[in-house]
Amino acid sequence: MTSKTITTSAYEWVDERLGLSELAAFARHKTVPVHSQSFWYYWGGISLFLFLVQCFTGVLLLVYYRPGAEAYESVRQITFVMHFGWLIRSAHSWSANLMLFAIFVHMFSVFFMKAYRKPREFGWLSGMALLGLATVFGFSGYLLPMDELSYFATKVGLEIPVAIPFIGPVIADMLRGGPEVSEFTVQRFFALHVVVLPALFLPLLGFHLWLVQRYGNAVPPREESKPLSERKNIPFMPSFLRKDLAMWLISLNILALLASVFPWTLGKQADALSPAPLGIHPEWYFMSPFEMLKLLGNWLPGEFGEIAGLLLFSLGIALWVLIPFYDSTRESGQRGRTAHYFGLVAVILLLATTAIGYWTIR
Ligand code: HEM
Repeated sequence: MTSKTITTSAYEWVDERLGLSELAAFARHKTVPVHSQSFWYYWGGISLFLFLVQCFTGVLLLVYYRPGAEAYESVRQITFVMHFGWLIRSAHSWSANLMLFAIFVHMFSVFFMKAYRKPREFGWLSGMALLGLATVFGFSGYLLPMDELSYFATKVGLEIPVAIPFIGPVIADMLRGGPEVSEFTVQRFFALHVVVLPALFLPLLGFHLWLVQRYGNAVPPREESKPLSERKNIPFMPSFLRKDLAMWLISLNILALLASVFPWTLGKQADALSPAPLGIHPEWYFMSPFEMLKLLGNWLPGEFGEIAGLLLFSLGIALWVLIPFYDSTRESGQRGRTAHYFGLVAVILLLATTAIGYWTIR
């Protein structure tokens, strides 16, 4: 038997049992729209690629990381003793940041293409949940090295839920595993980071991707108003996939450059008794909500300023999440335009409050 026939018969054997040719036929029929804004279609795929990098490097880190009292020492060994440990750790941290960046770009491009409108509401809602989980991935992972910076930034971050009346302090205590950030917090964050979050994230991601397969890519409103005969499409296999893979390769190159030229650092071991070092600030993706809450708290009068700020902020987030329900179709008219301006205001607010946050670090 020649090698070709071995391959063919192996394929036929698997195909008979798993129906691979049906999948291949489905993939052959899938198309992707081509227009002036098609570039934005790559960002969901880039987020996916960086998530895969996260899983791969995360599993490698898991081989040597020890949560609890030895957390700092194990990260010190990974960074300075293990062969290429520094590179894996650096790639993991950089890809977490790049992934969050890609998700934000993806979210805003989906927003401005109005891809949340009927029938894609669940795509939007599952995406928002993925973004929420991705930020918790970031927050829980940040503490794991237990160096000075991660310790104090987590301490400050966990003070935010305390402002929620009644249940706030209980939630904060539960997350910390006591009144202070300690090795118990590391243990909890570790369980969250490697068990709870992946168990929630993976099925949700599967659902999100299934929806994309089911409904295909939305086109922006201007393209939608053209007659079907004037719209262009390319087959997903192999044309779009080839471009998608090229974007993955570019992302991998950027990641490799960042991770090796700017290796992720490890500060001094956290010491609860020492004063907080200067310039403690949240990660960039938390800077905007952190700054908004601070500004609202200062601006609203009285001791309830903080709570009122939290309520106002939550209202803004709720309006954002629920956008598919008030800008639901092309016929939404004025509401559709208002939603567009809401998106512009959100981008400006996000960038401005992040800039102010960094500007005022002391
Ligand atoms: C880890 C996080 C995420 C991953 C891996 C991911 C992945 C993807 C992929 C691969 C696509 C298809 C290609 C594309 O249109 O870009 C897509 C589409 C979509 N995503 Fe996401 N996504 C994520 C987060 C989000 C977020 C935060 C939102 C918004 C809140 C969102 C909303 C959508 C919607 C509505 C579509 C359909 C777009 C269309 O029909 O053109 N996704 N996602």
